[in-house]
Amino acid sequence: MSTAVITGGTDGIGRGLAEEYLRRGYDVLVVGTSKTKGEMFARSAERAHFLAADLSRVSDNERLVAHIADRFPAIDVLVLGARYHRPARLVTPDGFESNFALFYLSRFLFSHGLASALGRAEAPVVLNFGGAGSQVPVRWHDLQLEQDYHGVGAMGHAARLNDLLGVHFVAQHPDIRYVLNHPGVVATSFAGEYDRATSAQVSHLRATGKSVATSVGQILPHLDPPGRNGLTAVVEGALVPLAPKWFDRGDAARLHETTERLLAELPR
Ligand SMILES: NC(=O)c1ccc[n+]([C@@H]2O[C@H](COP(=O)([O-])OP(=O)(O)OC[C@H]3O[C@@H](n4cnc5c(N)ncnc54)[C@H](OP(=O)(O)O)[C@@H]3O)[C@@H](O)[C@H]2O)c1
Repeated sequence: MSTAVITGGTDGIGRGLAEEYLRRGYDVLVVGTSKTKGEMFARSAERAHFLAADLSRVSDNERLVAHIADRFPAIDVLVLGARYHRPARLVTPDGFESNFALFYLSRFLFSHGLASALGRAEAPVVLNFGGAGSQVPVRWHDLQLEQDYHGVGAMGHAARLNDLLGVHFVAQHPDIRYVLNHPGVVATSFAGEYDRATSAQVSHLRATGKSVATSVGQILPHLDPPGRNGLTAVVEGALVPLAPKWFDRGDAARLHETTERLLAELPR
């Protein structure tokens, strides 16, 4: 039996992928905060599972990773899709800026924490909705975005960090494929809180974005085993080159070390 684990699988593109893997006969576990949405998914099939968690909390990530690794010894597909827009900077109880915590750190903890389980699958793949070639500069001296916070910019910065997460992950786990994906504009829930101006923009994006089904159709060919290992970056269904400047191994190693240090410094 194949297994797919999908954070942000209770809504949007993650939910679309969850339904596709159910159709394919996989065991599918989705993670989100909404019990209503998650339990509705879990009721849809015997192989559909839901775990509720606030993935902006390090302890919730660690609890889930341990639970999932115990319950599913081999994981074929890991999708990292949870996100939540905030118009004003918010610091989590762990002391991290909320986008750093949910959009980047959770994905770091899931990628590395489930690497052994991924390594036991025949052709494992991780899908991370990163920048896929984002040229946003890394704020090395302000990773917690204390200066000039902007909600959309904060998500863009976290997406850039996820590109570097992918670079370092494949250096450590060359047998696990890692796909960075930017889906373009997709009509989803756009989970989050929005001020009036951004809310109008989001309504426009919801009205004009491609459907979840179209987006899933653009993503799947890159997840199905293509006969190559390592990192790929995909924007709206098309492969993009891994430009050395933006997928720099030194930057990726630096971010990895910084992240490990931040986690080690957390009071337990
Ligand atoms: N849609 C677009 O146009 C677009 C464009 C560029 C990139 N992307 C990227 O594509 C990915 C999927 O986006 P989407 O638009 O499909 O998602 P979405 O509809 O906004 O859904 C977000 C998901 O994240 C979950 N989530 C939010 N806060 C959470 C938390 N604290 N803990 C755990 N789960 C949490 C939500 O679950 P609950 O509701 O259950 O909490 C939901 O399943 C994201 O990484 C996004 O940045 C999307």
